[in-house]
Amino acid sequence: MMGERVHWSGRMAFILAASGSAIGLGNLWKFPYIAGTNGGGAFVLVYLLCIAAVGVPIFMAELFIGSQSQKNAVEAFSELDRPRSPWRVIGWLGLVSAVLILSFYSVVGGWVLDFEWLALSGQLTSSSEEQVQAFLGGLFASPSRILFWHSVFMLLVVGIAWGGVRKGLERWNNILMPTLVALLVVLLVYATRLDGFSESISFLFSFDFSALSRAGLLEAVGHSFFTLSLGMGAIITYGSYLQKQSKIGRIALSVAFLDTLIALIAGIIIFSIVFSFGAEPGQGPTLMFQTLPLLFLQMPGAQFVAIAFFLLVAVAALTSAVSLLEVIVAYWEDRGHSRKRSVLLWGGVIYLMGILAAFSFNLLADFKLFGKTYFDWADLLTSSYFLPIGGLLIAIFFGWKLLPAGLSIVFGEASRWNSGLLLWTTRIIAPLAVLLVLLWKVFGGLFSA
Ligand code: PHE
Repeated sequence: MMGERVHWSGRMAFILAASGSAIGLGNLWKFPYIAGTNGGGAFVLVYLLCIAAVGVPIFMAELFIGSQSQKNAVEAFSELDRPRSPWRVIGWLGLVSAVLILSFYSVVGGWVLDFEWLALSGQLTSSSEEQVQAFLGGLFASPSRILFWHSVFMLLVVGIAWGGVRKGLERWNNILMPTLVALLVVLLVYATRLDGFSESISFLFSFDFSALSRAGLLEAVGHSFFTLSLGMGAIITYGSYLQKQSKIGRIALSVAFLDTLIALIAGIIIFSIVFSFGAEPGQGPTLMFQTLPLLFLQMPGAQFVAIAFFLLVAVAALTSAVSLLEVIVAYWEDRGHSRKRSVLLWGGVIYLMGILAAFSFNLLADFKLFGKTYFDWADLLTSSYFLPIGGLLIAIFFGWKLLPAGLSIVFGEASRWNSGLLLWTTRIIAPLAVLLVLLWKVFGGLFSA
């Protein structure tokens, strides 16, 4: 049965929880590697523009839709529009995205746990540089190991979700997110002392547009959604646990700022190592796992640093994963199922799909559709298509149906300047930007560069 809706204990708790959702593998693992495969600076610039002009306004839109409706990502739309509103399709698409994303996210979360294990047992920091770079390949080659860690990761996600958002997540986020920031800053200080530091900065911040393909452009747009947990109802769902009167404008800005800062710091650190050790910046998903341990080897207390680092990445991944599961669980609960049943059912379904993602690196590596494995598809379809399309529709729904009436709720005291900006970014700029990039990509061949 449906009871009173739970709420976060306050504004700070919500900022931490939303940051917990936003800051995850997208920042620490994905951002550096896709910046690397897309040649650096130009990609980063497009990404930053997207965060500012598209991400922040849509973040406000999702928070508004969640907090005003106090409903899950599907019913929120009927609550604010009318019963059986066609806008609910955004919510359905979000549920599908959540399942697909979590199915591969959990596998990468498993890699992190495996590295945490390597760090704890001392292997990671007592090996040669070549051995360190070979660990991930070893993991990929072992179906049972990759499956084992995927299972552990999903169990942890289910365990946290089981206890409910407030008791489980809120408390963890409070301690662990600040610790993650502190540790990253320490690593950054070390990175500044490496030979590759200045090359890293110029790689990330000088713009060579010839290095950016159409696919890369779409990836930048898509990633700005992924990294802020947008376009699929996660922020709507978290927003629905906010009090109705919450002022959401500032919250959105703080979360977007923190998220971007952490992605950039992660990128600077990783590329400093890449250029110091002559590694390959465009190597793809293996980047974080093959470079960072090299830095640890240089530091005093290497093992301790490695243990702390992978632990925090694991936590960042977990807090994001829980928010993915929460989208479906909140929906299922609102349909009258108990929390525990919802968590078990959907955790189980996603776990099974995750097996396909886990085996994409070994047993099913040759099982490809248009040259891509299940893992690649789950990532590409959601990040490059479903999230941008979901976000585009959310912006239109919010900009045209809920504004300008909702402005005072977003900002408290709305000034001409910020209300105008929000109105026109959600009405015109964000939808148009996403649409243009999608069309440009579609006409250039849907799944090619
Ligand atoms: N934002 C998370 C990250 O960067 C991933 C995520 C996407 C979480 C969508 C929730 C919803 O790792």
